[in-house]
Amino acid sequence: MSPIAANRTADLEALAGRVVRGAANAPSAHNTQPWLPRAVPGDAGVIELAIEHGRTLPAGDHTGRDTLLALGCWVEAAATVAAAEGAALEVELLPALDDPAVVARAEREEPVARIRIRPGAEVTGGADPALLDRRLTYRGAKTAVPGFLAEARQVIPSWIRLAPVAAADLAHFAALGTADTLRIPAITRELMTWLRLSPEHPRWGIDGLSAEVLQLPPAAARVGAAFTRRRRLRDTAVRMLRTGGDLWRRALLEVHLEAPGDAVQAQHVVLVVEANELDLGSGVELTRVLNSPLGLPASVVFEAGRALMRVWLVAASHGAAFAPQSAVLDSDLAAGELQFKLGLGRRELPLFVASVGVPDVPAPARSPRKAVAG
Ligand SMILES: Cc1cc2nc3c(=O)[nH]c(=O)nc-3n(C[C@H](O)[C@H](O)[C@H](O)COP(=O)(O)O)c2cc1C
Repeated sequence: MSPIAANRTADLEALAGRVVRGAANAPSAHNTQPWLPRAVPGDAGVIELAIEHGRTLPAGDHTGRDTLLALGCWVEAAATVAAAEGAALEVELLPALDDPAVVARAEREEPVARIRIRPGAEVTGGADPALLDRRLTYRGAKTAVPGFLAEARQVIPSWIRLAPVAAADLAHFAALGTADTLRIPAITRELMTWLRLSPEHPRWGIDGLSAEVLQLPPAAARVGAAFTRRRRLRDTAVRMLRTGGDLWRRALLEVHLEAPGDAVQAQHVVLVVEANELDLGSGVELTRVLNSPLGLPASVVFEAGRALMRVWLVAASHGAAFAPQSAVLDSDLAAGELQFKLGLGRRELPLFVASVGVPDVPAPARSPRKAVAG
């Protein structure tokens, strides 16, 4: 190998390392960080992206929707780092992306995408990579950013719509969705395995959700920590939540909740894919896609994840945070009410729901990250 080629290889490998480290800032449901990037030996600047076993939510996210969105966010974050260094990413989606055994259950760590870093290729747009460190999830009170939706619409493709939803409606859908999903023991048990309520937890500081980011009072975190760590207590909690969720759900079907006072200050949005704007085939082919558990091709949800990350970074540029509310979509009951309220047709698919605004505290707690190889 000539010295020039050797330098180029070393430079590309170094750039790939920076891209992978920056992309690790991407958001993921329950902070699972499902991405598993691997350098391809002998092919500098090429990264194969797989999904790490044990880092998906087979109960709560059985369609793989949230994992696909998180992977899209990861690739967009990677592209943001690369673009700032004058490189483009060539992303080839692989057949495993369509396989729920790989995406929703991570049964095999097979690559779902191959990413080639192309220095010197034409790079268009691209957010400031410093925003990756300033991107926030914050579940407390927030104040809407005037003009946010108009600005966010500039960074999404024409087949995605950001639909506003009223604070009172979202409060109701979120409560209904939470109550409905808590009735399912596998989902509650899964959520509990991702809680990190005390520093004694063996995976504290690596992944999952801490009491601080969930804004749990210390006393509640202390009690909760025992429930997440001891199996018998956990099973008791799951049984109690099942009954509680059922009662709460029944009550919510009768009574429409009022939004808590501070929720009215924030903005609430639903990311909707307009399937009519995409070429998804016709006749039985289209019906099959729309009737599949995901309701869309995996590649579309992945691309929507990339757009979601761009929108999240627009919020970050105003100091604003997202508070996602996935329970609204995880429950057929709550998702049905949302679809009715927004007047969504069969080919308009909501993929993500969140409240957006500037947090009422100066520096909200951030979630930890697993170690990045290389
Ligand atoms: C697809 C997706 C779904 C999410 N759903 C929820 C949710 O329902 N509730 C919530 O509080 N946070 C949700 N989050 C936010 C994650 O919990 C958060 O991104 C993760 O804990 C990492 O924290 P960070 O965003 O501060 O880095 C979601 C994030 C993504 C990407």
